[in-house]
Amino acid sequence: MPIISVPQEFNQDDLYVDLRSIFGNPLFLKCEGFNFAGSVKLKAANEMVEAAERGGALRRGSVLVESSSGNLGVALSIIAASKGYGFRCVTDSRCNLATRLLMEALGAEVHVITEPDPETGYLGARLNYVRNLCASDRRYVWLNQYTNANAWKAHYRTTGPAIAQQFPGLDVVFVGAGTTGTLMGCARYFKDHHPSVRVVAVDTVGSVSFGTPAARRMLPGLGMNVRPPLLDESYVDEVLHVEEADAIRTCHRLARRGFLFGGSTGTVVSGATGWLARHGARDLTAVAIAPDLGERYLDTIYQSNWVQDLYGEGVLALDDPSAGVRAA
Ligand SMILES: Cc1ncc(COP(=O)(O)O)c(C=O)c1O
Repeated sequence: MPIISVPQEFNQDDLYVDLRSIFGNPLFLKCEGFNFAGSVKLKAANEMVEAAERGGALRRGSVLVESSSGNLGVALSIIAASKGYGFRCVTDSRCNLATRLLMEALGAEVHVITEPDPETGYLGARLNYVRNLCASDRRYVWLNQYTNANAWKAHYRTTGPAIAQQFPGLDVVFVGAGTTGTLMGCARYFKDHHPSVRVVAVDTVGSVSFGTPAARRMLPGLGMNVRPPLLDESYVDEVLHVEEADAIRTCHRLARRGFLFGGSTGTVVSGATGWLARHGARDLTAVAIAPDLGERYLDTIYQSNWVQDLYGEGVLALDDPSAGVRAA
């Protein structure tokens, strides 16, 4: 019986869904949404905060500040509340209301950027605001999830070894790429300790992370408008790009079997099942990582008006999970 006294102490790190009966391919989905932050970001947040405390940058009276469109902001809200730090989350008008209310309920101050920077977009405008804030007062501490090596170290220390321990015969692991903290931690771990495991990155069509052209992206979590500073492609064996419409179809297919996951899980599962089908991989042992759960997306991914307005009328009718997956 786990008994905890601070919220970040609890994280379910060994829950997998066997997706064979849903998609017909051998694929185990590692669930990262069962903690008080509801997402994989609790690990990176915890590691970055503890490193900043050890290094002396974060101390009593500090106010954390971070640019986040959701999950990292929620994770930092929880840790800041638990440790007695202030936290100001800088987000933009695309952040969904439920996530913003969640952060505020946890005591965070949420600043919403409403005007994108003409050259660097919303992310650029958010980062400018954070830089100005830090320059204005020494109490502000910016962990910077985009460049902080502790974000990938968290996964090198926990996620990679947790998968390897449960699946000693692992052949291939599929990891979504946002800031690439999760991807780089797992990829580095497997290259160092189990080099025969194939590491496949899954990104969204329209993300520039791996050098493909920018296009509209509406699902939060995966994809970047600039090259992720943490990314070192030499550790990644293969890259897949998944259309958002296919990610959404995959989410709905999982939901119809009682598993409500977030959009980035739909992206990773769509990429992984397509890859396994193309490789005729009936005997492989494959794991994919599900970064969060679906409740935060009830008014987007699980709302048929939202889906049809953005992706067209027939989007949910087509049900081929491997459609639209492109190898990079
Ligand atoms: C829902 C979701 N999926 C995937 C990711 C990507 O994780 P990473 O930033 O480690 O690449 C994030 C990151 O915020 C996320 O919120």
